[in-house]
Formats: sequence, structure tokens, C-alpha cells
Amino acid sequence: MFNKETIPFAPSLIESMRSLGYSFESAIADLIDNSISANATKIDIKLAPGNDPYIIILDNGNGMTNIEIEEAMRYGSRNPLEIRDENDLGRFGLGLKSASLSQCRRLVVISKKNNKVSGYSWDIDHIIDKQSWMLIGYENDELKDFPEVDLLQDIESGTYILLEKFDRVQESTDNLVKTLKRNMDNTVEHISLVFHRFLEKELDIYVNNEKIEPKDPFLTSNKATQFKREQKLIVNESVITLKPFILPHMSRITNNDLKKVGSKERLKNEQGFYVYRNRRLIIWGTWFRLERKDELSKLARVMVDIPNDLDYMWNIDIKKSSANLPDIIKKNLYNCVYESILNSESVNKYRGRKADDGNIDYIWQRIENRGEFEYKINRNIPQLKMLESTLNIKQLRSLNELLIQLEESFPISTLYIDASKGKVNENREVIHTDELFGQVMEQIEFAMKNNMDYKEIGNAFIKTEPYCMDNELKKRIREELKNV
Ligand SMILES: Nc1ncnc2c1ncn2[C@@H]1O[C@H](COP(=O)(O)OP(=O)(O)OP(=O)(O)O)[C@@H](O)[C@H]1O
Ligand SMILES: [Mg+2]
Repeated sequence: MFNKETIPFAPSLIESMRSLGYSFESAIADLIDNSISANATKIDIKLAPGNDPYIIILDNGNGMTNIEIEEAMRYGSRNPLEIRDENDLGRFGLGLKSASLSQCRRLVVISKKNNKVSGYSWDIDHIIDKQSWMLIGYENDELKDFPEVDLLQDIESGTYILLEKFDRVQESTDNLVKTLKRNMDNTVEHISLVFHRFLEKELDIYVNNEKIEPKDPFLTSNKATQFKREQKLIVNESVITLKPFILPHMSRITNNDLKKVGSKERLKNEQGFYVYRNRRLIIWGTWFRLERKDELSKLARVMVDIPNDLDYMWNIDIKKSSANLPDIIKKNLYNCVYESILNSESVNKYRGRKADDGNIDYIWQRIENRGEFEYKINRNIPQLKMLESTLNIKQLRSLNELLIQLEESFPISTLYIDASKGKVNENREVIHTDELFGQVMEQIEFAMKNNMDYKEIGNAFIKTEPYCMDNELKKRIREELKNV
């Protein structure tokens, strides 16, 4: 037996590595991953059109020293089996190179750290010319010739990535700049969703000087969104967190919400799990074949948070754009899905019930589900809506938890036994009309002060229990609404 070192043939392997299947937006997202892992709080992405268009990605992260860039440029710079920092979005030691060169022929990395600036590049034509893994390094006075590289002067540390010679994009179009601009628009869409949890907090991303707004797929700022009970699964000592959300019924989705979730069609198609790895969205809008995507469950979405130390179980791919569900947790996910869908059904079905019931909004809803009935508190009654409008997100969550607890602790069997013996006291205290009128007027005044549609709110009270039972009260409210 003998050893024979067999070094990969650079021109062929680097060409093959370009075909991992990155889309334009997933390539840019991979570079953003690196900036986030380097603790950047601001990322500037610029597309410069012209005869030789280029893209710059500049971050204000930790930056790299000369030796660190040299190492970062090596294919397989880190072992995928290595334990990573819990906020690190990387895994394979490939993204910087493979993502960039999947779109273009030249990648330049210039970085500033400890007040020193260094730079290297991979140029496919240079590799073909040299027939080897020959990295190009730059002397200090050569670095200043790169476009807009002086932007590094304004930051204490950070990294400048330059992408040039977009041969792959050029192949598919007769107007390179137009296609690059379109790709950039798609990238903005992609980034605003994939990194929404960073954009909501510690990170700003600008594309051609325009700040990207986060797109929250759970519409948490809409008060009608329901937060379901969070569940935790322990898998090999790591914690996976599941948070189900039920989006509001279509009639309560605002135009602003529609911008976040896309069209009505997408609202339905993108139901399902939203799987995050260290808060970065990897896959979304799938039930992993645990459930059919049907009309009824279209409002259910489940946020799944997985830490990066479970990468091996999910088979995260190099592009961080796919992952497989391990059998071990399939069952628990299914239970979670089931609960979400049931609730999603109730939001949808409630709409159909109104007409049957003479246009009365009951506080308790009796909901049929696969031949059985369950009792839920109507989330659309104006009493609750008005209370919600005074609460912040945390309080809303607590309120929602409380409502769920009330529903779940409803003493069905005791009530059943007592009722069957005729022992339930049904003599309710009758609340005086003046008192009910005072309650409604207080809400109408609050609504007026806060520029809410007080007429709609007043009318909602008129058809809701217990106000709808009192004819004199309804008359007085109607008159009052006419006069204000
Ligand atoms: N913007 C950046 N700022 C600071 N360091 C960076 C930056 N981009 C890359 N690096 C360094 O270069 C290394 C190689 O990056 P690369 O994207 O190729 O691999 P990775 O992020 O480790 O793993 P993955 O292939 O999963 O992305 C990183 O581990 C990091 O140390
Ligand atoms: Mg990376």
C-alpha cells in the first residue's frame, strides 16, 4: 500500500462547484449569512449598472485580517462537523466562494480589521490560466483601485465583497443589466422574508440605498392574529421550539398585511411550517406532507426554531435552502399542526355561521369539527376587539393564552351532569339598559378619540350578546350613532 496525494484539478472543480444550484437571491442570502455571523449591524448592497456591471456587498461586521481572508478564501475553509458558535449561520466553509462564483467569474474580498485593509480574489480565468488554485492577493496601493472601496474608510471594521463578470446571468439574457435589476428586485423580496427576524431587530440592510423592510409571515402586528401555545421538543439535548399562529380571516387582512404575505393565492399556498435555523428562514410554506394544503388550514402557520447543532439531523444543504424533517420529531410536529388547523377552521367557519343565526354574534361559539362539537370564545366580539386595541403584543399574547386556558378548562362533563339533573341555575342577573348603554358609549368615545371607525364598532355591539338582547338599548345606540 502507498499514499498518493491527489489534488483536485482546479479549473474543472471550480467550474463544477458553480453548479450547486444557487439562485441569484439564495447566493446573495448566503453572503448576508456571513455578514450576520460576523456581527454586522448594517449591510449595504449595491448594483452598479454599466457595460461591466458589478455588485458590492459591504458590511460593518468584525472584518478579517490578511491571514483570515486567505483562509476564508480556501474551499472547505472549515470542517462541516465542527461545533459552531450558536449564532453562526455557516456550516460548510464554502458559501463565500460557491455562492459568489455561482453567479459571476470574479470574487474580490477586501476586509478591514485592526485598522488594516487586505484583499484577495478568486478569478476563474486566472485559475484556468494558471491551471491551479492560484489566489490573487493585492498590495495596499492596488486595493484603492476597486470601485467604491473607500467606503471601508468610514467604518471601524467590516468586509467588502465585489462580484464581477456575470457570465452565468449573461447566458440567460440579451440585456444583462435589466436582468440583474430584476434579480435584485427578487432578492429584496427574498431577503425581507428570509432575514425578517434580524431586520425587525438588530440589522439594517440597504439595497441601492433603500432600506429593506421586514416581511413577517405571521402578521404579528395584526391584532386579529392568534398566537397559539408554544411547544418545545427536546431532541438530542437540543431544543426545537414550535410556535403556531393563526392568521386573521381574509376580511381582516389589511393591504399592508397583503404586501407581507403576498396575494390571496400565496396566503393559501404558503401555509405550513416556517423553519428557522438560528432565526434565519430556511424553508417555508410546507406541511412536510403531514397535512394536505387545503382551503381550511390556509390560515395556519407554525414557526419552527432549530439550533445549528441539529444541522446533521435536518440535512441542511450547502445553499441553506432545504432541509428534511427527521422522523424523530415528525409525530410531535403533527400534533402541533393538528391543533393549529382546528383553530384555523374555526376562524374560517365562523363567517358562515353568522347568517344562519339571525345576524347575532355570540360570545361562545359552538363549532362543528368532523362530526363533533367544541366551544370556543368568539375572538371577533367587539368587547374583545376593543380591549385588544389597548394592549401591546406581550399583553395580547397573555390575553390569548388566558382565553385558551378558559376554553380548555370549560367544565363540560360537570355541566352535563348538573344539567341532566336540572340543577343548573339559569336565572342570569339582568343588567340594566342604562348600564349597558354606558358601557357601549365608553367604547364609542374611546374609538372616536383614537380615530377608529366608531360607527362600525357601535353596530358591532348592537348585534353582539348581551347587547343584542335589549331592544331599547339597540334603539338608543342607533340614535346616538346618528347624532355623533
Ligand atoms: N462578511 C464576512 N465578515 C467576516 N468574516 C467572513 C465574512 N464572510 C466570510 N467570512 C469568514 O470566511 C469564512 C468562510 O466563509 P464561507 O461562507 O465560505 O463558509 P462558512 O460561512 O464558514 O460556511 P458556509 O459554507 O456554510 O457558508 C467564514 O467562516 C468566516 O470566518
Ligand atoms: Mg457562509
